[in-house]
Amino acid sequence: MSACDHKADIVQVAFTQKHGRKSNQVAEKTTKTQKTLDRRFCVAPMMEWTDRHCRFFHRLLTRRALIYTEMLTTGAVLHGDRQRLLGFDPFEHPVALQLGGSDPKALAQSARISEDFGYDEINLNVGCPSDRVQEGRFGACLMAEPSLVGECVAAMKDAVKIPVTVKCRIGIDGQNPDEALFAFTETIKRAGIAALVVHARKAWLKGLSPRANREVPPLDYGLVRRLKAAHPDLEIVLNGGIATLEQAQAELGAVDGVMMGRAAYQEPWRLLGVDPLLYGAPAPVGSLKEAALALIPYIDRELANGARLHAITRHVLGLFRAVPGARAFRRHLATEAVKRDACAAVIADALALVLDSRSDLAHIAA
Ligand SMILES: Cc1cc2nc3c(=O)[nH]c(=O)nc-3n(C[C@H](O)[C@H](O)[C@H](O)COP(=O)(O)O)c2cc1C
Repeated sequence: MSACDHKADIVQVAFTQKHGRKSNQVAEKTTKTQKTLDRRFCVAPMMEWTDRHCRFFHRLLTRRALIYTEMLTTGAVLHGDRQRLLGFDPFEHPVALQLGGSDPKALAQSARISEDFGYDEINLNVGCPSDRVQEGRFGACLMAEPSLVGECVAAMKDAVKIPVTVKCRIGIDGQNPDEALFAFTETIKRAGIAALVVHARKAWLKGLSPRANREVPPLDYGLVRRLKAAHPDLEIVLNGGIATLEQAQAELGAVDGVMMGRAAYQEPWRLLGVDPLLYGAPAPVGSLKEAALALIPYIDRELANGARLHAITRHVLGLFRAVPGARAFRRHLATEAVKRDACAAVIADALALVLDSRSDLAHIAA
């Protein structure tokens, strides 16, 4: 047995003694797909960020949130390594796959393949402003082509039984959002979307980077609230700039759901408050440390399958806030997890640097 195996085992035994169960049983409890999707709180699709390791980690912190994958293009789904691109752990349910494309036939085929993989929802990206995506005639530029988006939705709906949804902006470039967003919604609603996620700012397709396009165009929550008021029968999810769970909770009075992106990824400790605050359900684990310990069996399994430790722990860096040792935790992971042959003992050592805190949930609500 290597030093790595030994150390991770000690942590596993300590966890089992303390909680009376193995940490991977935490994961086993919620592997079933929910029948009806609850979109009250969603974690946004984020390229390079919400990969399957990230989603597994987030699921340890919230059982209820609907979690979105990174965007996958139809080209990748149809011609790429499907198991690598689409495979995911059943523990991630409920999980929505986001597709990028604008060819109804290719989208329908991709949606069917994704449904067979077990995803709970297919979401079409009508919000990404990158040049590459524009060249492919998909993403945010489709805000100018509502009928084509309607055809895409209808084709996907015909192909699958799971819900088909769209994530869009309030408009692009010179469009008047009051007209563009409402007309767009009418068209895709007729095509049969189950829900619409609205990133409440325009995309400026010329001259702004994708990153600036998430900061510079002003947010307009009022418009999204009015859209919901005009479509009481359509599930509307608000996205963009939601920084706290309290803000999410306040918005839920006017819309059906809230989608959090950067705040959820960069400060994942927030997710431990989602189930109690937004769903009135118990938090899945008693502390942030417990969530990180529950990741260890997953890490062992993934490393055995060839993953690198850093690919998993990079998503965990922001787990602790305002706890003595949080900085040392980050530093240890950042320097040690990138080393060749780094194993789960690295995260065990990093956790040992963080003071135990029983008050995680109290400060998460703040
Ligand atoms: C790193 C990163 C990657 C993103 N990738 C996608 C993507 O693949 N698909 C998508 O619809 N939006 C993507 N977005 C946008 C987010 O889903 C979300 O709409 C945006 O960040 C605004 O929400 P926020 O203010 O809560 O972060 C990405 C955002 C970030 C920060």
